[in-house]
Amino acid sequence: MPKAELHLHLEGTLEPELKLLLSKENQVVLEQKTVAEIKKSYQFDSLTSFLQVYYSGMSVLQKEEDFYRLALDYLKKAKEHNVRYVELFFDPQAHTTRGVAFDTVIKGYARAVSDSQALFGIESALVMCFLRDLSAESAEETLTAALPYKELILGVGLDSDERDNPPIKFKKVFKKAQEIGWHTTMHCDIDQEDSIEHIEQALLDIGVERIDHGTNIVENPRLVEYIKEKGIGLTCCPVSNSFVVEDMKGKEMLKLLQEGVKVTLNSDDPAYFQSYISDDFVALSQKYPLAPKEIAQLAKNSFEIAWISDERKAQYF
Ligand code: HPA
Ligand code: ZN
Repeated sequence: MPKAELHLHLEGTLEPELKLLLSKENQVVLEQKTVAEIKKSYQFDSLTSFLQVYYSGMSVLQKEEDFYRLALDYLKKAKEHNVRYVELFFDPQAHTTRGVAFDTVIKGYARAVSDSQALFGIESALVMCFLRDLSAESAEETLTAALPYKELILGVGLDSDERDNPPIKFKKVFKKAQEIGWHTTMHCDIDQEDSIEHIEQALLDIGVERIDHGTNIVENPRLVEYIKEKGIGLTCCPVSNSFVVEDMKGKEMLKLLQEGVKVTLNSDDPAYFQSYISDDFVALSQKYPLAPKEIAQLAKNSFEIAWISDERKAQYF
């Protein structure tokens, strides 16, 4: 099946081999000395334990070329999984806070985006995420730094540690993003205690067009009805979920899908969870009673809620 990937963190595609190579090239000292040791360090039992490894791994990304190579390596793999269209999340603050210029990050990634069609036949676009455990002011500074590159960015998202960092904290910066004409989405993670409150804020106070993860919405029929009516989709990540809470949340995904919600499957951080997008389809369908029609619907939904024109959607699926 042709696939679109809408929930993919570029920094989450850093494979151990590239991490090791860049650590040598850029003389960044890593705790682990071999690919096997790096692989062994990829063990998580919560979002917090994952985020620690995720952020510390990024220290090897230094030059524009490193960001280009990271994105290009992912796109090459995505082609093997028949991905035709991808919206790539990236976390500029995870780099600017350690002294790498915004300019370096976006130029590297944007060059990969512009090469992706010619090299791999994949259409791609960048979605800039704010780190929600940093301040709202820091998010606004990031938005300002991004303004000269406005045309290279399709939308904005919100990721990182959700605890005590509700959507409403970023109301102002998201309003600015919407005024610029950027699309908006937000993570509403599955392990969050005030999940429904956060989902409600994201939908009603911020007015996001999609929710990343978001399966906890199943607990609230009123909000389920709301997203169904508005055609707001969920970008779910079964294998990522199984690392964070030992549950793919497949039951919830299936229930929502069968109710007509635009549920989609994505890989989130494929290098860390060792699962690229087809693996997520396989993992979910091996564990849950998905009919072939439902599997196709999941893939089709991704094109339906992608930030592309209706004509493009029809061409893809
Ligand atoms: N949740 C929050 N932050 C993240 C994630 C995620 O799934 N992946 C990368 N950063
Ligand atoms: Zn994510």
